Amino acid sequence: VFLTNKNILNMIDKAKLQIGENSYEFPLIEGTENEIAIDIKTLRGVTDGVITIDAGYKNTGACQSAITFLDGEKGILRYRGYSIEELAEKADFLEVAYLLIFGELPSKEELQKFHEDIKENSIVDDDVRKILDAFPKSAHPMGVLSSLTSALTAFNPSNDKINNIDYERTKKSLYDNIVKVLGKIPVLVSWTYRKKLGLPLEYGDNSLGYVENILKMMFKKPNEDYVPNQVIITALNKLLILHADHEQNCSTSTVRIVGSSHAGLFASISSGISALWGPLHGGANQAVLEMLEAIREDGGDTKKYMAKAKDKNDPFRLMGFGHRVYKNFDPRAKIIKVAAYEVLNDLGIDDPILEIAKSLEKEALSDAYFVDRKLYPNVDFYSGIIYRAMGIPVEMFTVMFALGRLPGWIGHWCEMRLRKEPIGRPRQIYTGETYRVFKSISQR
Ligand code: CMC
Repeated sequence: VFLTNKNILNMIDKAKLQIGENSYEFPLIEGTENEIAIDIKTLRGVTDGVITIDAGYKNTGACQSAITFLDGEKGILRYRGYSIEELAEKADFLEVAYLLIFGELPSKEELQKFHEDIKENSIVDDDVRKILDAFPKSAHPMGVLSSLTSALTAFNPSNDKINNIDYERTKKSLYDNIVKVLGKIPVLVSWTYRKKLGLPLEYGDNSLGYVENILKMMFKKPNEDYVPNQVIITALNKLLILHADHEQNCSTSTVRIVGSSHAGLFASISSGISALWGPLHGGANQAVLEMLEAIREDGGDTKKYMAKAKDKNDPFRLMGFGHRVYKNFDPRAKIIKVAAYEVLNDLGIDDPILEIAKSLEKEALSDAYFVDRKLYPNVDFYSGIIYRAMGIPVEMFTVMFALGRLPGWIGHWCEMRLRKEPIGRPRQIYTGETYRVFKSISQR
């Protein structure tokens, strides 16, 4: 009989653990989509010190969350119950940000007020410019963005104390910080980009939509009027929605764990940016483009690189393939692949990199190594191609991802604090030396 999670829970409501002679029972927890967890909160206490170990947290739930549902086997991704396909097709990024952070889609008035408040809070202190000036032009934009975000704490001292006494005040100060993050970080992103290109810095234009304003701040040429391009605005809106949340990924877990020590929102987001930077996470979009470029420069022999990816003695991995949780397909990759073709078509760009990407994808999808390990193209396989078509330098790709991920990080940070989660503090199994007597340097 095939037992679904639901069947299991109908039959039993406890998990049993046998260690030697002793047997212990732990309650099961069920989520709204019938996911089941064994609640081991009491494990150490009742077993006199036994813990679980799960490198990379592959089987460990760190929290209960009502923000994003993801089923990696079925390729389902939903924000607050709404499918990613529908949101990417029909929604505006700011609506999705509101949805992720506050739990419901905004009314027209709520959205307007949210946008107004963000605009009002988008001024970045001039001293932050001076910090930006001190970075060398060669600095990686993710390092610059993380540092500048952290620097914002100095200019926006944390007032996000969550307390029981005055819940309304707490909500107000949380809201103030949320609109500041969504107002100021796009300015930092545009400054980071313009600094890279040696362009004078731009400030926001309050007459524009949120996404269009980001594009203007990034792309406006000195002494020229900014001409909006609807294809690019639509594509960026879609990309930001696709990046907006992905439940307990590496950077979001980082934001939650930093925030769990009651560090402020800017400090927590700055660490999320650092976590996103790595090539196994958000940095994969840059790594994909660099890989495609390298294959092209090497004559375009995709088979050679497929063989390298499968060779266990070769550290090379096919970037943009595989995912910790998607073992069927990444629904974001499907949407983004179509969007990549549309953007290249609409902008009339013939990119040889796309041909290499298509061959790699085709070969991998019929190769036993990739099929057996359920390695499919992920969101980053195609996002870099769109960013490149938009004229964004490769090193900025992960910064764009960070911009999209802001609502997710904020939503999780607020959820974690409002649920009064305890400080994150994993245990370990010590494998080092046992007690040794110290010898002074002359005796060694
Ligand atoms: N190329 C070649 N082999 C791979 C790849 C790849 N891209 N990904 C996984 N494998 C192999 C891996 O060697 C292992 O093989 P074996 O079982 O023989 O030892 C098996 O597949 C399982 O891999 P894993 O590293 O244990 O899986 P994981 O869940 O720990 O890692 C991953 C997931 C995304 C880090 C990994 O697939 C990877 O490194 N992919 C390339 C980087 C990438 O595209 N990252 C972006 C993820 S999507 C953006 C985001 O949400 O962060």
